[in-house]
Amino acid sequence: MSVHVLAPAKINLALRVGSPRPDGFHPLTTVFSSLDLFDEVVAEEAEGGLEIRLADEVAGVPLGEDNLMAKAAAALRRKTGTERGARLTLTKRIPVAGGMAGGSADAAATLVGLNELWELGLNADELAELAAELGSDVPFSLRGGLALGRGRGEQLSPLRVGAFHCWVLVTSTRGLSTPAVFAAYDELRPEPHEPAEVDELIEALAGPDLSALAPYLINDLTEAALQLRPDLAELLSSDRALATILSGSGPTIGILCADSTEADLLAGALRAEGHTAIRANGPAAGTHVVER
Ligand code: C5P
Repeated sequence: MSVHVLAPAKINLALRVGSPRPDGFHPLTTVFSSLDLFDEVVAEEAEGGLEIRLADEVAGVPLGEDNLMAKAAAALRRKTGTERGARLTLTKRIPVAGGMAGGSADAAATLVGLNELWELGLNADELAELAAELGSDVPFSLRGGLALGRGRGEQLSPLRVGAFHCWVLVTSTRGLSTPAVFAAYDELRPEPHEPAEVDELIEALAGPDLSALAPYLINDLTEAALQLRPDLAELLSSDRALATILSGSGPTIGILCADSTEADLLAGALRAEGHTAIRANGPAAGTHVVER
């Protein structure tokens, strides 16, 4: 038996950051949107152990015990006591260390795939609880859609979707470390503060007009990411379509377009300039099992 699972990338339409909590995590007010750019995990029965492999060679994916897929499998074993084995094959499409929750997507796909393969019968709440232990973005990777995130990003409330969003994502070959970007943020804003609210964005998202939404796209980590990657400034400040934002802790840049025609043309133009540009639309489904 094998189980095929798709798990989506995400972009933060707003990422408002507070000063660090006693546990070192930053309180966030964020709006997550999933994108129809999916990593795929195939979970197959295997004797005893856990084998994780890549369908194709992709640079920068750790396959050892640090891999979030291995951690997700270990969390399921701990929770349920199962000793069954599995082979997990990952097809990586979400940029690695790109600020798009690629590792979190793979963890979410593993939770869903092994819950099914091993017939563990965990419900959505139980999976979400394990997801939050694995990483701040893993609960959203499970759920997908459009959601307000609080806490360190793991407390989710679904939001009303008024329109679909056509994106061009410009990726970098060099990733950014999320802890390093948050540390740079703390140096830039050392005074205690709460994350700002995102009410105008939520209201604009519920309506059909994308240009009403554009002014409220904001990412508090932008300046910190630019300190580590000044080369991103040119594209981030360029006026290409409705809005340009850094995705999560970067370095991927998301450009919101008026429609798919504009987005396709812009992706082509950016590729001609030598960028790596991916087309994606959001919000998309959360982590789900598909037929092969
Ligand atoms: O939760 P996750 O393991 O994905 O977070 C990776 C790192 O990002 C954390 O160790 C922390 O340095 C930083 N982080 C943070 N505040 C958050 C989320 C992540 O400081 N809300």
